Amino acid sequence: MKGSWNSSSIIPSSFSCLFLFLFSFRDVCAVPTRYSCLPEQRDALLEFKNEFEIGELSFYCISGYSKTESWANSSDCCKWEGITCNSKSGEVIELDLSCSGLHGQFRPNSSLFRLQNLHFLDLSLNDLSGHIPSSICNLSHLTTLQLSDNHFSGQILSYVAVFSHLNSLDLSYNQFLGEIPTSIGNLSKLITLDLSYNQFSGYIPFSIGNLSQLISLGFSQNTFSGQIPSSIGNLSQLTYLHFFSNNFNGEIPSSVGNLNRLIRFSIYSNKLHGNFPSALLKLTRLSTLILSSNQFTGTLPPNITSLSKLEFFDAGDNALNGTLPSSLFTIPSLTFIDLSDNQLEGTLEFGNTSSPPNLQALRIGSNNFVGPLPSSISKLTNLEELDLSSFNTKGGPVDFSIFSHLKSLQSLGLSHLNTTTTIHLNDILSYFKKLNYLDLSGNHVSAANKSSIPWQSLAYMDLSQCGINGFFPELLKTQQRLRNLDISNNKIKGQVPGWLWMLPNLENLELSNNTFNGFERPSKHGLSHIWKPSVRNFLGSNNNFTGKIPCFICVLRSLSILDLSSNNFNGSIPHCLGNRKSSLSVLNLRHNRLSGSLPENILGNLRSLDVGHNQLTGKLPRSLIRLSSSPLQMLNVESNRFNDTFPFWLSSLQNLQVLILRSNAFHGPLIHQPSFPKLRIIDISRNRFSGYLPMGYFVKWSAMSSLGTNKEDRSKVNYMDVNWIAAAIGSVPGIVFGLTIGYILTSHKPEWFANPFGRKNRRSRSTTT
Ligand SMILES: *[C@@H]1O[C@H](CO)[C@@H](O)[C@H](O)[C@H]1NC(C)=O
Ligand SMILES: *[C@@H]1O[C@H](CO)[C@@H](O)[C@H](O)[C@H]1NC(C)=O
Ligand SMILES: *[C@@H]1O[C@H](CO)[C@@H](O)[C@H](O)[C@H]1NC(C)=O
Ligand SMILES: *[C@@H]1O[C@H](CO)[C@@H](O)[C@H](O)[C@H]1NC(C)=O
Ligand SMILES: *[C@@H]1O[C@H](CO)[C@@H](O)[C@H](O)[C@H]1NC(C)=O
Ligand SMILES: *[C@@H]1O[C@H](CO)[C@@H](O)[C@H](O)[C@H]1NC(C)=O
Ligand SMILES: *[C@@H]1O[C@H](CO)[C@@H](O)[C@H](O)[C@H]1NC(C)=O
Ligand SMILES: *[C@@H]1O[C@H](CO)[C@@H](O)[C@H](O)[C@H]1NC(C)=O
Ligand SMILES: *[C@@H]1O[C@H](CO)[C@@H](O)[C@H](O)[C@H]1NC(C)=O
Ligand SMILES: *[C@@H]1O[C@H](CO)[C@@H](O)[C@H](O)[C@H]1NC(C)=O
Ligand SMILES: *[C@@H]1O[C@H](CO)[C@@H](O)[C@H](O)[C@H]1NC(C)=O
Ligand SMILES: *[C@@H]1O[C@H](CO)[C@@H](O)[C@H](O)[C@H]1NC(C)=O
Repeated sequence: MKGSWNSSSIIPSSFSCLFLFLFSFRDVCAVPTRYSCLPEQRDALLEFKNEFEIGELSFYCISGYSKTESWANSSDCCKWEGITCNSKSGEVIELDLSCSGLHGQFRPNSSLFRLQNLHFLDLSLNDLSGHIPSSICNLSHLTTLQLSDNHFSGQILSYVAVFSHLNSLDLSYNQFLGEIPTSIGNLSKLITLDLSYNQFSGYIPFSIGNLSQLISLGFSQNTFSGQIPSSIGNLSQLTYLHFFSNNFNGEIPSSVGNLNRLIRFSIYSNKLHGNFPSALLKLTRLSTLILSSNQFTGTLPPNITSLSKLEFFDAGDNALNGTLPSSLFTIPSLTFIDLSDNQLEGTLEFGNTSSPPNLQALRIGSNNFVGPLPSSISKLTNLEELDLSSFNTKGGPVDFSIFSHLKSLQSLGLSHLNTTTTIHLNDILSYFKKLNYLDLSGNHVSAANKSSIPWQSLAYMDLSQCGINGFFPELLKTQQRLRNLDISNNKIKGQVPGWLWMLPNLENLELSNNTFNGFERPSKHGLSHIWKPSVRNFLGSNNNFTGKIPCFICVLRSLSILDLSSNNFNGSIPHCLGNRKSSLSVLNLRHNRLSGSLPENILGNLRSLDVGHNQLTGKLPRSLIRLSSSPLQMLNVESNRFNDTFPFWLSSLQNLQVLILRSNAFHGPLIHQPSFPKLRIIDISRNRFSGYLPMGYFVKWSAMSSLGTNKEDRSKVNYMDVNWIAAAIGSVPGIVFGLTIGYILTSHKPEWFANPFGRKNRRSRSTTT
């Protein structure tokens, strides 16, 4: 009911006013009540409704139905949901069809464009696609245009400038392209301009400074480049400025200091440089300042305290140096500080004033801080996140009980403190009840005490390189929420405990470089029908595993990456690993003592198989030839005893990039010319191939010839030892193919073990502010 009243009502107007007063004084009584929908506009609306299908409502919508559902020819269109009419003329002036499940494309002759008096058009949160036709220029009275959260594409900004009255333009979350035209400066009544989350590009025109009424400006998540124009300083009403995730370069213009109404300023993930912009210190209303992931240098000025309303301060991942001014901690409103990944140095001091009582997150890891950890950290009792990793205590002692006061901690990063003090895992865990992230890597940790932790919130635990010896720390047994466990690079011996596989949420398990010698089976109770193994990525290389690869590995039905390389496994590869339904994508069994042949279907679903340096025999399993859509990208069988002809049939694999057959008993002529569309590395040396290779042999291997010329391509890959390439050249007389570099597809520390304090995490947080 948006202010419409049907003149055909039989209720006397004075009575109706009284009657409806209770419901809506403003909508009903304050306006003359004699109008109804114009028939031609009603028809236009009904036609517009029929131009689209009604699909599923967007995830973000609250209502559960489309607004157009109730539209029907027989009724007054001014009463339809989403419609507002002019109280005098009856013309439709507002159309709010956000969250209406509209699916389809605009036609250039869409009946919408006949509603010439529209002031307000909101089509956000639908499923509309295609280009906006230029006929939208017909709606020259628009003051509000909201098209966010659709799939619109193409250029729109070139004709947006004709709306000489526009005060709100929201195009965010689409796939619009193009540059901002100079004529944007004509939209001098704009109050809100949101272009974020599109594919806009180019420079920001200087004329942007003409939009002197702007309160909110969003250009984030596009590919804008160039410098931020100094005219931005003319936007004296600006309160929200979001330019993050673009390619802006240069320095922040000092005119930004004029934006004295600014409350939120976010420009992270650009290529901005220069000293910490002192102009920002004039923005005394600022509450959110996000400068992270740029190239800012120089020191943080002590008078940063002039930002007396600052709550959220993120300047991480820059090149700031000098000391961290203790004055920062005197800003009482601060709740979040992130200065990690900089080159800040000196000691950490909180000053003698009471530290920010509200501080919830302090991330200052990966800097060059030295000295003792200040015990005054224990005053920050509201801390939920604390990252002090790489704080160099110069071999000094650390009193870890200072953390015992931080009862609200959920994330604690203490890796690589360079302290001689041993951390007793039981002790440190006993301080907390809500901890879900703990990184103690690179310190001395004692996990000897066997009593388990009485609370269960740990999700991420990094105990890598902690000098842990003895058996597996039992105290993790109760951690039902544990998702990532990295306990690599220690000296843990004995069996991998069976209870690990029973943890219902464990996805990533990194045990490499220990001296484990076997696997305890998951307990019988666990193998009941309700057990759903959750481990997806298991890295167990470089241990002392012996005997056969246990078949229970195949019961881990979610397994995607399995690395058991550099162990002493013998016997054959379990046939169950060739199960067609297997979810396994990467299998690394390199450097063991495996014998027998490869399981028949093993190549079925794999992206990468490395069985190099074993004693495998027989032929490569050909079953894979049927799978032209095979995802296989890398196959390495080097240094085994395979006895087969050249696998020409592999050339039908569309994704194969690395093929290494080196040092086997492959034999026979190389007569066919395989195509190998994506092959980049091939090593067939030290086999018994025969025959003559014409120089044109490798011409069809197009991907290989492009490698090394495309810089971007090269920067993405991990380079591999080049020794074997020399050998490859030597073994095929007359052929010197241009291989100088190559890459392997399995990197050793996969992304999912990455520190949640990392940029990605920060970004998702910052976006919400
Ligand atoms: C609505 O109804 C009128 C008469 O009842 C008719 O003339 C008109 O074509 C109808 N419009 C639509 C869009 O069905
Ligand atoms: C609009 O154009 C489409 C083709 O794009 C045509 O099928 C339709 O009849 C036209 N509608 C009107 C009202 O002209
Ligand atoms: C645009 O408006 C003109 C009248 O000003 C009208 O003739 C024309 O049909 C409209 N265009 C569309 C696509 O509705
Ligand atoms: C829009 O701005 C351009 C300059 O950027 C100017 O030449 C043009 O006259 C303006 N148009 C209107 C309608 O104001
Ligand atoms: C700035 O806006 C005024 C109207 O307020 C307009 O006349 C002028 O052309 C605009 N300048 C630019 C550069 O767009
Ligand atoms: C910004 O303001 C200055 C002076 O206030 C004026 O000279 C300049 O033309 C303005 N720039 C724009 C783009 O409006
Ligand atoms: C802050 O201090 C710097 C010198 O460190 C000075 O250039 C700047 O003007 C000061 N800014 C404010 C707002 O006090
Ligand atoms: C900070 O780094 C700059 C070079 O980027 C250097 O000139 C300056 O001396 C350094 N300042 C401190 C305090 O280390
Ligand atoms: C750790 O502290 C020792 C003792 O002061 C020092 O010699 C060493 O360089 C430090 N290590 C690092 C990585 O700074
Ligand atoms: C294995 O871990 C030890 C520490 O226990 C470390 O010194 C060594 O570099 C690691 N080896 C590899 C190959 O990572
Ligand atoms: C590895 O296991 C063998 C027996 O299987 C044992 O002799 C050897 O000591 C183990 N190595 C280590 C480092 O534990
Ligand atoms: C390869 O297999 C053939 C028989 O298929 C056999 O004659 C030959 O000796 C084998 N070569 C090696 C090196 O084992």
